[in-house]
Amino acid sequence: MVPGLLEGKRLLITGVITDASIAFHAAKVAQEQGAQVVLTGFGRLRLVERIAKRLPAEAPVIELDVQNQEHLDTLADRVREHVDGLDGVLHSIGYANPETCLGAPFLDAPWSDVGPALEISAYSYASLVKAALPLLVEGASVIGMDFDARVAWPSYNWMGVSKAALESVNRYLARELGAQGIRANLVSAGPVKTMAAKSIPGFAELENGWHGRAPLGWDTEDPTPVAKTICAVLSDWLPATTGSMIMVDGGVHATGQ
Ligand SMILES: NC(=O)c1ccc[n+]([C@@H]2O[C@H](COP(=O)([O-])OP(=O)(O)OC[C@H]3O[C@@H](n4cnc5c(N)ncnc54)[C@H](O)[C@@H]3O)[C@@H](O)[C@H]2O)c1
Repeated sequence: MVPGLLEGKRLLITGVITDASIAFHAAKVAQEQGAQVVLTGFGRLRLVERIAKRLPAEAPVIELDVQNQEHLDTLADRVREHVDGLDGVLHSIGYANPETCLGAPFLDAPWSDVGPALEISAYSYASLVKAALPLLVEGASVIGMDFDARVAWPSYNWMGVSKAALESVNRYLARELGAQGIRANLVSAGPVKTMAAKSIPGFAELENGWHGRAPLGWDTEDPTPVAKTICAVLSDWLPATTGSMIMVDGGVHATGQ
C-alpha cells in the first residue's frame, strides 16, 4: 500500500465546532492520510467531543480559549499527554461580533468589539504558535486560515481588517520560525458554508457569483478542496514555502470581474 501523505505526522488542529468546520474536514483528511490528530475545543467541549467521534479515528480534545492565558501557558503540557512532539499546527479560529463588525456600517464599529476581533482572529495565531513551540520539531508546518484580505469585500468589514492583520502575522512568524526549520503559511479559502460563515450577515453577497467567477468553479457546500490543501501544506511536499498565502478559491483571486 502507498503510505499516506501525512504518515506518522502529529498534528494539533484547532477550530472544530461542527462537522461543517473547515478544521473538522482538515482533521478527517489528515487522519485518512496517516496523521495522528489532537483537537482543541473552545467553550462547548462536550459538543466538540461528540463531533470528534465522527472522525475516522476519535481524536482527543483539549480545551483552548485563545483569550485565556492559562490555557495557552499549559497547552504544551496538555498536548504532551497525547503526543511527544508536533509536526504541524492548524489555526482555524476567527470571531468578530456580527452585529457591529460584519455587515453593519464600517465606521460604526467600536474598538471594544474590534479589539477582541483582532485578538481572536489574528494575534491568537502568534499566541498559539508560541504556546506550541516547545513541541514543534524541525520541518514542522504551521497554518492559519485566511480570506484574501488584499481587497475590501462586501460586509466582511472588520473581519477583513483582522484577516489583513493575520496575513502580516504570518509573514513575521515565517521570519522568526525559519531559523528553526518551521514553515508558516496561510491557506486562503473561498467561501465555505460553516457556522462562522453563516454568522456573516452578508455571506450570501460574498458567495453569490463565486462559482461563476471561478475558472475552476466553486462549491460552497464542499470543504474538501480546502481540507486537502491544508493537508498538502502540512506535508513535506512544500519544504521551501513559508510566509505564503496559498489560494484555494477556484481561481477567483486571479480574475477581474
Ligand atoms: N467558511 C469560510 O467561508 C471561510 C473562508 C476563508 C477562511 N475561513 C476561516 O477559517 C477559519 C475557520 O472557520 P470555519 O469557517 O471553519 O467556521 P467555524 O465556525 O466552524 O470555526 C470557527 C472556530 O473558531 C473558534 N473560536 C472562536 N473563538 C475562539 C476562541 N476565543 N478560542 C478558540 N477558538 C475560538 C470556534 O470555536 C470555531 O471552532 C476561520 O479563521 C475563518 O475565518 C473561513
